[in-house]
Amino acid sequence: MGRIRTNSGPAEDLLIELDREARVPLHRQIAASIRGGIRAGRLGAGASLPPTRTLAAGLGVSRGVVVEAYQQLVAEGYLASRSGGYTQVAASMPQASARTTETPEPAPKIDFGYGRTDVSQFPRAAWLRSVRTVLTTAPNDRFAYLDGRGVPELHQALSDYLNRVRGTSADPGNVVICNGYGQGIALLIQVLVRRGARRIALEDPSSNDDALVVARAAGLEVVGVPVGPDGVRVDALETADADAVVLTPSHQWPTGGVLSAAARAEVIRWAKRREAIVIEDDYDAEYRYDRSPVGAMQGLAPDHVVYCGTASKTLAPGLRLGWLIVPPHLVADVAAAKVLADRGSPVLDQLTFADFLVRGEFDRHLRRMRPVYRRRRDALLGALRTHLPELRPAGIAAGQHVVAWLPPDLDEAAVVPAAARHGLGIHAVGEYRISGAGPGGLIFGYAILGEAAIAEGITLLARAIREIREQTGGPGRLATVIRTV
Ligand SMILES: Cc1ncc(COP(=O)(O)O)c(C=O)c1O
Repeated sequence: MGRIRTNSGPAEDLLIELDREARVPLHRQIAASIRGGIRAGRLGAGASLPPTRTLAAGLGVSRGVVVEAYQQLVAEGYLASRSGGYTQVAASMPQASARTTETPEPAPKIDFGYGRTDVSQFPRAAWLRSVRTVLTTAPNDRFAYLDGRGVPELHQALSDYLNRVRGTSADPGNVVICNGYGQGIALLIQVLVRRGARRIALEDPSSNDDALVVARAAGLEVVGVPVGPDGVRVDALETADADAVVLTPSHQWPTGGVLSAAARAEVIRWAKRREAIVIEDDYDAEYRYDRSPVGAMQGLAPDHVVYCGTASKTLAPGLRLGWLIVPPHLVADVAAAKVLADRGSPVLDQLTFADFLVRGEFDRHLRRMRPVYRRRRDALLGALRTHLPELRPAGIAAGQHVVAWLPPDLDEAAVVPAAARHGLGIHAVGEYRISGAGPGGLIFGYAILGEAAIAEGITLLARAIREIREQTGGPGRLATVIRTV
């Protein structure tokens, strides 16, 4: 935690605390401190702020970071830019009002937010046919309480589908239906903790709103295992001393790498040697565009791998339908945890999905959607090539998002807010790093954007990046420095 009071110059009471370990970017921390000072009345209307260069030097950050913070507060109306290049607290700012609320960021015009599925394409007619069938044919006892695993019809339909398409080795008796991956991982972590697990390995970077949060809340020590271009680095897993690892081997989230056959075999050997559990999150496997299929790891070692699937990416996240293929020795515990959590997932939805699978509607839906998403991905890659060729897209062969790595002169912490000012919503890879360190990159979710919107979004991003470079002296300068060092 760094703390600085600027003792000289016009804003003597400007108190800024920086927490360099926090996931919140520094420019946001600075903006929040100044905003707080204005609201609390420590910074009165008309008070001058230190020049950006002075404040940046005092805080030990780059000038661009302070410029970002000031610009944000000018946009929110807390600060005003004056001629001569200095900045003051705006004259009309309300002081220390308990009711003052933070100005919400304007909704982005174009949002590259990830994790969204084009729900406008939900196959309503086919789903309705399955609902009708189920309501007319399901036996009465299906509407009674079930055991925690769910309905047998769905266990069978999913086992058939996954063994055929994903190369799993699923026995219907080992399938547990849950409320999406989010619940599945929570149930698994609960069971592993009860069985004595102390440490869990997660890919670094990885999603920050499921396994990470649940594992920490359950008292597990979390260790981030770095990810390379081909997914998790198995050499680093070897030294992690973990009882379980969560992987996204078919399309690493968010960097998009695919774990090689050799690395998969090594992970399985690691799990067998340590009696550890591999949790395979196969969230993205169905959308594959220009690479050959990669089978699920669960098929290689059904006693050591828990397979997690979800309908959130393929059909709709609002369905809240997910499934686990659980090693036999853990099935009863996971089913008991599910009963405890919510007494089982809704029966009608499970039966409907089973019928939908058996009729071949799921395959049909995926066949229809693959070219739709592929065209959107191609539009994104084409626009990046044209307007921002210095960004390096990765993990493009599958999924519903692409990561593009930034060149060294661009900082995520500057690009994301600059993009927001141009009406563009986008996330940076850094938000999902467990260790906090690593190259800068942007995550482009393209699933719900039309091709024209994607192209426009990239134009806005290019404009934002041009603006940053104009403020910081452009890419050439840094590139020269790097070359001469
Ligand atoms: C890495 C990852 N796995 C799985 C999911 C799906 O979660 P759920 O099935 O709970 O909707 C998400 C959601 O965005 C995700 O980011």
